Amino acid sequence: MGGGAGQHPVGRRSGSYGRDRAFRGHVEKMATELGLRVEFLPGDWRRGADASAINSRLKSDAEHEIKAVCIVHNETATGATTDVKGVREAIDQAGHPALLMVDTISSLGSVDYRHDEWGVDVTVAGSQKGLMLPPGLSFNAISAKALAAAEHANLRRSYWDWRPMIASNATGYFPYTPATNLLYGLHEALEMLFQEGLDTVFARHQRHGEATRRAVRAWGLEILCADPDEYSPALTAVIMPEGHSADAFRKIVLEHFNMSLGQGLSKLKDKVFRIGHLGDINDLSVCGTLAGVEMSLELAGVPHKKGGVQAAMEYLAQKAEVRSIAVK
Ligand SMILES: Cc1ncc(COP(=O)(O)O)c(C=O)c1O
Repeated sequence: MGGGAGQHPVGRRSGSYGRDRAFRGHVEKMATELGLRVEFLPGDWRRGADASAINSRLKSDAEHEIKAVCIVHNETATGATTDVKGVREAIDQAGHPALLMVDTISSLGSVDYRHDEWGVDVTVAGSQKGLMLPPGLSFNAISAKALAAAEHANLRRSYWDWRPMIASNATGYFPYTPATNLLYGLHEALEMLFQEGLDTVFARHQRHGEATRRAVRAWGLEILCADPDEYSPALTAVIMPEGHSADAFRKIVLEHFNMSLGQGLSKLKDKVFRIGHLGDINDLSVCGTLAGVEMSLELAGVPHKKGGVQAAMEYLAQKAEVRSIAVK
């Protein structure tokens, strides 16, 4: 993080990995263990980060004690995205030098993201979501400003120091033993993404997200993300009707259809289930997933209306001119 011990990044907690274990909470835990002071701006678990709240907080920091603003682009726990460009503008409008750090672990390769164009200082990504690989690789994109800040930071670093990695980049080697098998997988994953075309990939996830949301609404269930502008193209979190257990429902889905739905995390535990629509999926796999959910709602005795899969199919068939499969 761009400052020394005792310095001050600020995160925005609107998802379930906040202090109580949302992905934003990962930032807090790591930063705290590194001796940084972390401040969470109070947030809403049904929305992305609020750029105007960040702007106000930075304006009140006349001493520039805050060294970084940390946000999550796509909150995997809630299915809400954050307008990263809007947060950059909010920082600039406040005339504040804080670095902008963005977690894109569940958005990179699934949702349009522009490190340079949006003026992000540090982007963090991982292999395990839109890149369709097992976990094990992590990526950073780093601005010149963040590199300069790292030169002067007095945090203790070794494995996580960028400098040996950058020095090795010049020759294409790694400072440590690289995860060679994952790098071969990454090569293949990038081939798949570029062959389909990133714009087509992003449109495919948007479309599958919309099909999923249409199914959820047709069932009469509620989408957790409250702002349509922030709907995640990567996943949809669905609120379980009062008096019904989301985890009991997920167990039924797993036992009957061998399909694993994401669980609700932290304060959403047992209250939501999550439907993923990222990675190498197509219209039929989305319909299959939704069929598994609809059949299980019936099996679990969850009050719902029929016709979710039908609503999704109608939408997907109307839009069938959009290519939804990667062709070799
Ligand atoms: C948005 C987001 N941030 C952080 C993480 C945590 O990643 P890891 O478990 O690799 O630290 C995840 C989980 O994959 C995630 O979805």
